Amino acid sequence: MPENRCLQGIWSSPWIFIFAAGGSAVGLGNIWKFPYVLGENGGGAFLMVYCLCLLAVGLPVLIAEVSLGRTVRSNPIDTVNDLSERNLLHSRWVLVPWLAGITGFLILTFYSVISGWSMAYLERAVAGKFASLDQGSAQGMFDALLNSPGEMLFWHSLFMFLVILTVGQSVTRGLSTLVRILLPALIIILLFLASYSMLVGNAGEAIDFLFRWSWEDLTFDVVLSAVGHALFSLSVGMGAMFAYGAYMSKRMSIARACAIVVGVDLLVALLAGLVIFPLVFAFQIDVEAGPSLTFVSLPIILGALPAGPFVGAIFFLLLVIAALTSAISMLELFVAWMHEKYYISRLQAATMLGGAVWFIGIAVLMSFADWDSKLMFGLNGFELLDKFTTLIMLPVVAILLSVLVAWALPRDMLQKELITQQVAHFQWWHNVLKYISIPVMVLITVAGWIGV
Ligand code: PHE
Repeated sequence: MPENRCLQGIWSSPWIFIFAAGGSAVGLGNIWKFPYVLGENGGGAFLMVYCLCLLAVGLPVLIAEVSLGRTVRSNPIDTVNDLSERNLLHSRWVLVPWLAGITGFLILTFYSVISGWSMAYLERAVAGKFASLDQGSAQGMFDALLNSPGEMLFWHSLFMFLVILTVGQSVTRGLSTLVRILLPALIIILLFLASYSMLVGNAGEAIDFLFRWSWEDLTFDVVLSAVGHALFSLSVGMGAMFAYGAYMSKRMSIARACAIVVGVDLLVALLAGLVIFPLVFAFQIDVEAGPSLTFVSLPIILGALPAGPFVGAIFFLLLVIAALTSAISMLELFVAWMHEKYYISRLQAATMLGGAVWFIGIAVLMSFADWDSKLMFGLNGFELLDKFTTLIMLPVVAILLSVLVAWALPRDMLQKELITQQVAHFQWWHNVLKYISIPVMVLITVAGWIGV
């Protein structure tokens, strides 16, 4: 198949795929969510199970999604349509990319609100508001933000505006330049912050908490959270990687590229943990503080740094950009599809979809403020969307996509796509996907639903 067949273009070098997929994977999930999920799930036990989940579930499913994307080089919906027209798949499978796109769309509605918090904190860092914060005032600052819907709406709107602008450009041009600089910069800044945090904070207790393994901490909830977070963090189950796979050069080994993406994703999450936990222990913040961990404990350290406002501004700027490179990948599936199917520009497609996300996002941000009302099952708007997408949609789509690749797609087609020199490697991956990843996802998901 010619390299230039894809309407949206091809990444200019194989490495750009790694940067773009890494940019999608590395986001709020690593820096904001990972530390608090780890805190709520007993530290070391979660980390251990999480690493296992990345290897046994996340990586094989990621490889499956990217390979499927590269088979036809079209948007995910047309890819499945094309395969079914060629009698390679049943036409009902087209439901899967649709569900994947809807999941990404729904996740973006609250992802954008939280990215908006990062922007609000960027502004506070620049304005020097972190100076001499203690735990009480840092908590007060966060609560004030959650109780001002107007401010949250402003940042949410600005973030969605940036998402629309970026995704409206060709992903193979605008985005690729951005991520190439961004990912390495983010890692360097995190390394610097982690070293500082370990110097001024309680490094011993943090390392003990992160890496200490004890069987008593290993509960079913820990496993459930680890599987869910591994999928979320690698951006699988939402069609983002499926869409990006289509722009990948045929010369690149998918398995190698995906392994690098998983490694970078884990590295960034660990670094974020090493920034947060030494402080959490030094300032005696509750490790189970939940979502407020990054927005309460980080400003304290940043306020205490000699170059605090500067470092703070850089950190939150990078967090915003990391969130942006993830957010755009959530809309990519539908934007590419609308662009290819209806011949409208990417910008028009992005504006329509982004506008709808923006609108639903307003309900989400209201659920943090005074309007916090329980809509269903005792959950507010944010909790409903978060739980519905991460506990139901995300695993279901990941399972369906994996079943599609493992059981429905012709084996020789897959093998050609994966260009592994050794048949044994392919066989290994195929078996892990079929007999480990899929059963584990099904088991954990169903058990989670029935509340084992
Ligand atoms: N992986 C991203 C993160 O860790 C979130 C994401 C999910 C991005 C799905 C794209 C698609 O923040």
